[in-house]
Amino acid sequence: MKTREQRKLEHLHYALTLGDSKQSAGFEDVRFLHDCLSAVNPDRVDLRTRFAGLTLSSPLFIDALTGGADAVTTINKQLARVAARTGIAMAVGSQYGAVRDRSSQKSFAVVREENPDGVVFANVSALATPAEVQQAVHMLAAAAVEIHLNVAQELFMPEGDHDFAALWTNLQRLREQVTVPIIIKETGCGMAAAQIQKLQAAGFNCLNVAGAGGTSFAAIETARSGNVRRQRFANWGIPTVWSLLEARRVCSPETAILASGGIRDGWQAAKALALGAAAVGMAGNILALLEPPEGAISGSSSEANAVERTITTVEEMLADLRDIMVLTGAATIKDLQQVRLIFTGRTLEYLQNRSLEHA
Ligand SMILES: Cc1cc2nc3c(=O)[nH]c(=O)nc-3n(C[C@H](O)[C@H](O)[C@H](O)COP(=O)(O)O)c2cc1C
Repeated sequence: MKTREQRKLEHLHYALTLGDSKQSAGFEDVRFLHDCLSAVNPDRVDLRTRFAGLTLSSPLFIDALTGGADAVTTINKQLARVAARTGIAMAVGSQYGAVRDRSSQKSFAVVREENPDGVVFANVSALATPAEVQQAVHMLAAAAVEIHLNVAQELFMPEGDHDFAALWTNLQRLREQVTVPIIIKETGCGMAAAQIQKLQAAGFNCLNVAGAGGTSFAAIETARSGNVRRQRFANWGIPTVWSLLEARRVCSPETAILASGGIRDGWQAAKALALGAAAVGMAGNILALLEPPEGAISGSSSEANAVERTITTVEEMLADLRDIMVLTGAATIKDLQQVRLIFTGRTLEYLQNRSLEHA
């Protein structure tokens, strides 16, 4: 059995070497309509967004990546520096080990050392107890907690926990007893309307669909295990665009939807927002820009360069987003969520398929 530390490093290794899923997240099927009468001045574009009782200065965030192993402290340090300089929010990777057996708390503590005032999201498994959730939040002075759903990962992971029936009961317990805002998130397989409705009815009002099209944990775990039969599941999951459309069918105005999964540039971020997301997370592409643990020397120039190129990427994404908002006549993120979109290709087929259900 591998230690948790080894597993964390293997996740980083396979996420980097496998890259994005061969299945598309679907953004190529979504187009904006140009607004030839746009009255939005570029310097008046307002990127602020609100969800889970928070107001963020921009709708981009770094989604959960890592922590819980001493060797990944350097990754969280670089991420926290990027978040501090750009003002974007940041989720940490699962703190389950850090709260269960107090392993490698320094890999999380570094986030607050580098970014004392930023918005940070804690992250735990859906099997965590309410006390463990509170501990994870306390460890980071987090503004909210991401509770992750990862059935595909646990199924395909050699050391996976297969007690899926316990999940729902525990989620309800967390809903009743956790006092900070909860974000329920997938981890790259997306969410469908029926489960979104079920979560909403149980009182969860912030969901990160984290769809397919970017990092695939089915691919990572089946590559780790070497199970050739299961490698056929590498592209399993609902593309991010379809997941956002699933959410749009059933979400009440009180439910905030977040998106991650294959969002790689400002255009895709803008499309996810126009599909209804209140904020957009990125993980695999940000990881690829950083100095990896094996090469990282704390305080080295290559580590500083990695932070600078990641900041440039985030700033360019925000600049693209602003330009798209001007060109679609959207002064605020709320306006962008209302713009008309055109759907083509497989996503149009998906929409036709969905509409047949009520024919
Ligand atoms: C190396 C790696 C580790 C991850 N670990 C976690 C985790 O601990 N908890 C979690 O909720 N999501 C985790 N994720 C999932 C991401 O937060 C994100 O939802 C998913 O990767 C889709 O986004 P992407 O395509 O931009 O990578 C991880 C992703 C990567 C690449």
